[in-house]
Amino acid sequence: MANRPQVARTVPRLRRAVELLRKGGAGVALVPTMGALHAGHLALVREAKRRARRVVVSIFVNPTQFAPSEDFSSYPRNFSADLKALSAAKVDLIWAPTAKVMYPDGFATRIEPRGAALAGLEDKFRPHFFGGVATVVAKLFTQVLPDLALFGEKDYQQLCVVRQMAKDLNLPLKIVGVKTVREKDGLAMSSRNAYLSAAERGVAPTLYRVLKASAARIRQGEPVARALDTGRREIEAAGFALDYLEARNAVTLAQVSSRDEGPIRLLVAAKIGRTRLIDNVGV
Ligand code: PAJ
Repeated sequence: MANRPQVARTVPRLRRAVELLRKGGAGVALVPTMGALHAGHLALVREAKRRARRVVVSIFVNPTQFAPSEDFSSYPRNFSADLKALSAAKVDLIWAPTAKVMYPDGFATRIEPRGAALAGLEDKFRPHFFGGVATVVAKLFTQVLPDLALFGEKDYQQLCVVRQMAKDLNLPLKIVGVKTVREKDGLAMSSRNAYLSAAERGVAPTLYRVLKASAARIRQGEPVARALDTGRREIEAAGFALDYLEARNAVTLAQVSSRDEGPIRLLVAAKIGRTRLIDNVGV
C-alpha cells in the first residue's frame, strides 16, 4: 500500500509541511488542480515526480474563475477518489484549502493579466476567467513556494498566461508545460467530459480530428484561412455550436495568416449540448 499523502488545509500547516519536505535541499514541484482527477492530471504528477524529489498537488475549485452562469456548484468533486489516486502516485502533500482560507473576509486584491489573456480566445467567452486563474495561481505559488509548477497544454491559453505572469512578477520558479493526454479516440481528457451524454461523447472526438486534419492541410501549404473555414464547417456539421477555431502564434497567441508568422497553434472551443469543450494542437 502506498503511503497516504499529508493533507494541509490551512496556510500555516501547509508552510510547515513544505518546510519539512524541503529538508536536505529537496526540490519541490507543484501541480495545481481543481480535483476530479483523471489521467491528464496524473501525467502532470508523473512529470513532476521526474523533475523534483517532492511533489505537492493542490485541489481547489476556484470560485473566482467561474462566472455566475457557469458550473461552479455542479463542478465534479470527489476528494476520496482523488486522495486514492494521489496516494498511488506517491504524492507527498495535498494542499486543499477551503474558499474561506483562500479568500478570507476582506480579501481585496486581484491580478489582472493582459497580453495572452486578452488574445480573443477563451477571454472572449469567459471574460472573468483569466483574472480568477492568475489570482489563484499567484496565491498557490506564494503559498507553496515551489521550485517548479506544471500545467497542461490542454489549457493552452492558461499556460501562456501563467508563463507570462511568472515572468512579469519575477516569480522564482520554472513553469513546465505537459502534453495533452487523450482518450483512445483522441478526445482530450477533461473533468467536464463527465457531463457528456453517450451520443455527445460519440461526437466529441470530432474536435481533435478536425484540429489534426486542419494542421495537416496547413503543413501541406493550404492557406490558413481556407483550412480554418473547412474545419469550422466540419465542426458545426457534427452538431457543435462553435465558439472559435483559430490559428495563433504558439508563443504570443497573436493572430497569424501564414506559416511565416512563427510556429502556429490551432485552438478550438465548442459546445456540444450543454458541455463546452476546448482543445488545441501544434502545426
Ligand atoms: P484543472 O482543470 O483541474 O486542470 C489542472 C491541470 O491539469 C491544468 O494545468 C490542466 O491544463 C491540466 N490538464 C487537464 N486536462 C489535461 C489533459 N487531458 N492532459 C494534460 N493536462 C491536463 O486548470 C485548472 O484546473 C485551473 O484553472 C487551475 C490552474 C488549477 C487554477 O484554478
